[in-house]
Amino acid sequence: MLRPKQAKKEKIQLTRDSYTKARKLFSYMKPYRLQYGIGWVFLVFSTSIGLIFPILLGQLLGTGNGTSTSMSEAVKAIDLTNINTVAFALFIMFGAQAVFSYFRVVLFTNVTENTLRDLRSDVFNKLLHLPMDFYNRNTVGELTSRLGSDITQIQETLRTTVAEFFRQIVMVIGGILILTFISWKLALIMLATVPVIAIIAVFFGRFIRRLSKEAQDQTAAANGTAEEALTGIGNIKAFTNELISLKRFTTAINEIKRLNIKSGLWRGLFVSFIVFAMFGAIVFIIWQGLLMTEGPNPSLAKGDLYSFLMVTLLMAASIGSLPDFYASIQKTIGATEKLMLLIDEVSEQDIFTGQLKPVISGSLRFEDVRFSYPQRKDIEVLKGISFDIGSNQTLALVGTSGGGKSTIASLVLNYYPLSGGKLYFDGIDSSEIDLKHLREHIAVVPQDVILFAGTIQENIAFGRENATVEEIQEAAKQANAWEFIQSFPDGMQTQVGDRGIQLSGGQKQRIAIARAILKNPTILILDEATSALDSESERVVQDALDHLMKGRTSIVIAHRLSTIRNADRILVLNQGTVAESGNHEELMQLNGIYADLVSMQMTR
Ligand SMILES: Nc1ncnc2c1ncn2[C@@H]1O[C@H](COP(=O)(O)OP(=O)(O)OP(=O)(O)O)[C@@H](O)[C@H]1O
Ligand SMILES: [Mg+2]
Repeated sequence: MLRPKQAKKEKIQLTRDSYTKARKLFSYMKPYRLQYGIGWVFLVFSTSIGLIFPILLGQLLGTGNGTSTSMSEAVKAIDLTNINTVAFALFIMFGAQAVFSYFRVVLFTNVTENTLRDLRSDVFNKLLHLPMDFYNRNTVGELTSRLGSDITQIQETLRTTVAEFFRQIVMVIGGILILTFISWKLALIMLATVPVIAIIAVFFGRFIRRLSKEAQDQTAAANGTAEEALTGIGNIKAFTNELISLKRFTTAINEIKRLNIKSGLWRGLFVSFIVFAMFGAIVFIIWQGLLMTEGPNPSLAKGDLYSFLMVTLLMAASIGSLPDFYASIQKTIGATEKLMLLIDEVSEQDIFTGQLKPVISGSLRFEDVRFSYPQRKDIEVLKGISFDIGSNQTLALVGTSGGGKSTIASLVLNYYPLSGGKLYFDGIDSSEIDLKHLREHIAVVPQDVILFAGTIQENIAFGRENATVEEIQEAAKQANAWEFIQSFPDGMQTQVGDRGIQLSGGQKQRIAIARAILKNPTILILDEATSALDSESERVVQDALDHLMKGRTSIVIAHRLSTIRNADRILVLNQGTVAESGNHEELMQLNGIYADLVSMQMTR
């Protein structure tokens, strides 16, 4: 069990480049710009109504004492001194607000989902076509988070955050204008207090959140310790390590206690601060405002004071929400940049630009091939490999671990460009052959077979898209897989993988062989499993392989030398060079590395 990692604090560094890259998101939204534009019109409407609402509400509360207000003079169209009129106006307004909001949400969601569908599909398409080297440099976890969390981040922003951010900014700016219009004196008093407190509250709140995050991390660590101990309880008992475990756990939970008490202390302070400062400020403004409404010649009407207070309250909330929206938009720009960088990566098709689609009969020639993996250029893995095999022949690769056998197989598949030398298929330079065309003629039975979640039938059909059910069954039969498949209640429809049946190593291999048989390749690459099968399964698997190898060029990476006795040519690789080459008899006579390996395996 791994201890939960200390949560990494994600610091977003945005450069001018980030913004340029992020702007490309707009090109994804372009097809939907009309909908988006209309959505924005609705947003502007509903936002403006949001501003009128507190004014009207204030007037409603203030009506009845008959004084005409500056607001009612401003909005001559409706008589704001009449309770019924104001209430009616409020209802109309909310009705309109409801309709506008509805369309805004629906339109924004539509645009967002369409945009994201296009983006997701582009990203995945890109991922599928990136060169192998890219996958050496990036972890799959990182890449799937591009498709997952990065896209979710954008989704949230396009759908709501941008709209909300806009709304809150309009609320704040519009609010300030309205307040100044109602009473610039009171507005000044308000501006000197409320925003300051709101911003302090936001940062205070963040600080507390960070503290409780620390406590949470610590809790996770303590739980990890407990889980580790309980999973390995046998070990603990056997080594009588109970006390040590307990001590470790106690240290962790003491730390949890300390952190939580510390955060509690600050939370208490925060609450007092809010109560005192926030409500204090409001009381202060009300007090100052009321003073202005007094006397024989009041500078402020009661209704206006209420409007003022309502606008102030809404504004304070808006100010408080701005930093979070801003942070979220920053995060989205970061996420978009990462996605766009991915989309701009160089595809395999841009590296292997060959166009030829020749007939590939399976003859293959390596000519002084040199190769270093792109991310480890200093180490030459293949140091001038030359050999050739005719069509329908079998080439076996043997040698020490790390000798370069799998690397040669990768090069046949054109996974990487060569560092030097040439590789010819039927006399044609591999770099001139169309990548897809070439790979269509090659099948691989890998060392560790990975099946996809799905039925056995689907897994075999992976070998050829348009295969009929009969062809799939025939392939399964030839691969010696038919018998065990039939023993499952669901037969070919049996679900395999995580949510289905778990197949044994030998069974999986036979599925992979069936897949290769279905593909009917000209060139077959076999990375022999190192894991020992019992001799019975070995026999059925070998039998299936013999079937598969018939009538095609085969490159066999062999660990059990008994299986390659009949190979037309055996290459013994040693540290990136061909140490010995010939058939079994020739190599035995040479009495070199191969003969040593054979005698070593015999005595085992
Ligand atoms: N993706 C990679 N990136 C960088 N170096 C690699 C990569 N794959 C293999 N190598 C290196 O290339 C060398 C040859 O590896 P390769 O996998 O071809 O050996 P192998 O002969 O197949 O060995 P084994 O019998 O253990 O499978 C090794 O030194 C290995 O460390
Ligand atoms: Mg290997």
